[in-house]
Amino acid sequence: MTVTERVWWKDGTVYQIYPASYKDSTGDGLGDIPGIISKIDYIKDLGVDIVWLSPMYESPQYDMGYDISNYEAVHAPYGTVADVEALISDCHSRGIRLILDLVINHTSDQHAWFKESRTSKMNAKRDWYIWRPARYGAEGRRMPPNNWRSFFSGSAWQWDEETQEYYLHLFAEQQPDLNWENPVTRKAIYDSAIEFWLKKGVDGFRVDTVNMYSKPPGLPDAPISDPGVFEQPASMLFCNGPRMHEFLREMNQLVLNKYDTMTVGELPHTPDTAHVLRYIGSNDRQLDMVFQFDIVDLGQGKTNKYQFEGYALSDLKAVVEKWQSFIAGTDAWTTAFCENHDQGRSVSRYASDLPQWRERSAKMLALMMCAMTGTLFVYQGQEIGMINAPKDWSIEDYKDIESINYYNSAVARSGNDPAVRDHVMKSIQILGRDHARLPMQWDATAYSGFTTNKNGAWMRTHDEYKSINVASQLNKSDSVLNFWKKMLSLRKEYKDLFIHGSFKGFDMTNEKTFVFAKAFGKDKAIVVCNFTAEEQKFERPGVNGKFELLISNVEGVDGTESVLKGYEGRVYLVN
Ligand code: NOJ
Repeated sequence: MTVTERVWWKDGTVYQIYPASYKDSTGDGLGDIPGIISKIDYIKDLGVDIVWLSPMYESPQYDMGYDISNYEAVHAPYGTVADVEALISDCHSRGIRLILDLVINHTSDQHAWFKESRTSKMNAKRDWYIWRPARYGAEGRRMPPNNWRSFFSGSAWQWDEETQEYYLHLFAEQQPDLNWENPVTRKAIYDSAIEFWLKKGVDGFRVDTVNMYSKPPGLPDAPISDPGVFEQPASMLFCNGPRMHEFLREMNQLVLNKYDTMTVGELPHTPDTAHVLRYIGSNDRQLDMVFQFDIVDLGQGKTNKYQFEGYALSDLKAVVEKWQSFIAGTDAWTTAFCENHDQGRSVSRYASDLPQWRERSAKMLALMMCAMTGTLFVYQGQEIGMINAPKDWSIEDYKDIESINYYNSAVARSGNDPAVRDHVMKSIQILGRDHARLPMQWDATAYSGFTTNKNGAWMRTHDEYKSINVASQLNKSDSVLNFWKKMLSLRKEYKDLFIHGSFKGFDMTNEKTFVFAKAFGKDKAIVVCNFTAEEQKFERPGVNGKFELLISNVEGVDGTESVLKGYEGRVYLVN
């Protein structure tokens, strides 16, 4: 494959749907597959090409479906396998592809495989998960096999009374890690989680926590980086283990290569560009592209995510430049995104969600994202400029296991110190995963038109739904929604520049504006964004040629103005 080879998953824009929160068709307060089907023409009209559906599989829902109890069944409140088949066919008949979430680092503890595995040390499936005997401390105290901390707080090991061993769970205790060292387990994963759905016509997968399958031999202790507690962050040990590349190659060779698929892997804790490239070179097919998380990790605490530290615009610019440029001259491909179901809303995080600025901010971010190289991912609600939950919501309004467990453990560890509680709460208000999981805001009727349930949705509806919703934006020519549509179509019209072009940032230490160039052959575009509420001087970068305004997010701008309004964005074509 050559650098510029065009395949559908490069030029296509992906729209991510979180089934719990998209559209409830039954009135039970929870989104469902028929609800998504009822919105398929809205999705088509937006101008996206690929839908990524977050987990809709059978699950006890400790982690919103990322704890799967049966890969070949659908969570009953979401619908049935037949409903997903209908969704596949309704997408395909409109020229939209559908990819599913592939969660195969772990299953639910309610999966039949784990239920068998935990019955006895002699069970044939014992070795399908990662079981280890206890260690014993000085006074004969039972301790987990190592000091790894789970992503959802506490130890990554759970003691099993019945069989007197611990099992590993990098996420919740209800999400035991599969043992990828066992080839029989791998084959079962390929058959049940992957090929079952490929045979039904899905077009690929977003691959969950894709770099954690291969654990380091001996499962060594992590270094102490958070003194005072036993459990330590250990991602440097369990991410990118020794057999990772081999496993992914095998997955392609045995299953994926038989179909015309795309894969996008979730690649956390991998800051090294050379290492990322090892996963995505097209001549050694492992993954077609990955999500590298520097942009959404901005401001997160170093040891604990929910200890927000803030960031500067120059930090954002540096990570964008790094990950926009790293594929240059290689046969690899990349992604562009700033939202998903694990992140706060981009308007609230990177620009301003104040009522007077939020629409302009949402459009500026749309303009910036649509000019970026790689496959573009848009998260449900991003297209109407949805914002984070209001700051006066209490911890009881949040539902996510990650935020709640962290809040409880940090508050307990501090002896209930109000300053700690406040700081954790402030961090959750910015970074909490629930912001993205609030019900989709369809219209100004009760519960934002998401559900007809009299008691509302499974998760509190945003207080601002009357001013931010699809219905009010559909026919308003200058709405955020219509701006997204325009940008998505410009991205297609100028795909050489925007999707495939090279990237170069200017004035990278400027903390107020972000100016970058995209280039492809002789064609050039300059993108300018003011990340402040104040007017900023705009000096054209030293690029030869005539600047012609392609689009601005401010009405009436002709491009000659040397002052940028608050949160103004412009794209120029340079001839
Ligand atoms: C990443 C997913 O995006 C997140 O929502 C989930 O909690 C973990 N992986 C565990 O599957």
